Amino acid sequence: MKFTCAALFTALLAAAANAAAVPLTTRDVFTPPVTYPHAGTVWVSGQTHNVTWDTSNAPAQITNKIGMIFLRKTDLTTPLILADNFDILLGRIEVKVPLVVEGSDYQLVLFGDSGNFSPEFTIQGSGIAF
Ligand SMILES: *[C@@H]1O[C@H](CO)[C@@H](O)[C@H](O)[C@H]1NC(C)=O
Repeated sequence: MKFTCAALFTALLAAAANAAAVPLTTRDVFTPPVTYPHAGTVWVSGQTHNVTWDTSNAPAQITNKIGMIFLRKTDLTTPLILADNFDILLGRIEVKVPLVVEGSDYQLVLFGDSGNFSPEFTIQGSGIAF
């Protein structure tokens, strides 16, 4: 998959247009909790993992069903997109662990209607730490 700023911008524009066209009262905000990775998870750069989230409380009408996953470190969301353009109702998506500095304070942000953070987890494998 290819990720560009233009694509993100287009997605945001589309989301804004969609929000303007649909009365807010007919849609519900859906922020499914991330179930994997969890506290204690260790990922190694280059591996592939299924990120999972709980869709059991999904409302009938969802404002934005298109999901996107960002990487977050030390309480800051990075511009690194691990997955995008997937159906938030899938409940899982495969991601490749990026080559990043090692750390135990990584989180994922799952975006659908709004962002939802995973617990902090560890990424190893680059041999580079700050
Ligand atoms: C992710 O989940 C799917 C469906 O269960 C499975 O086929 C696939 O092998 C999983 N990928 C990994 C990396 O575990």
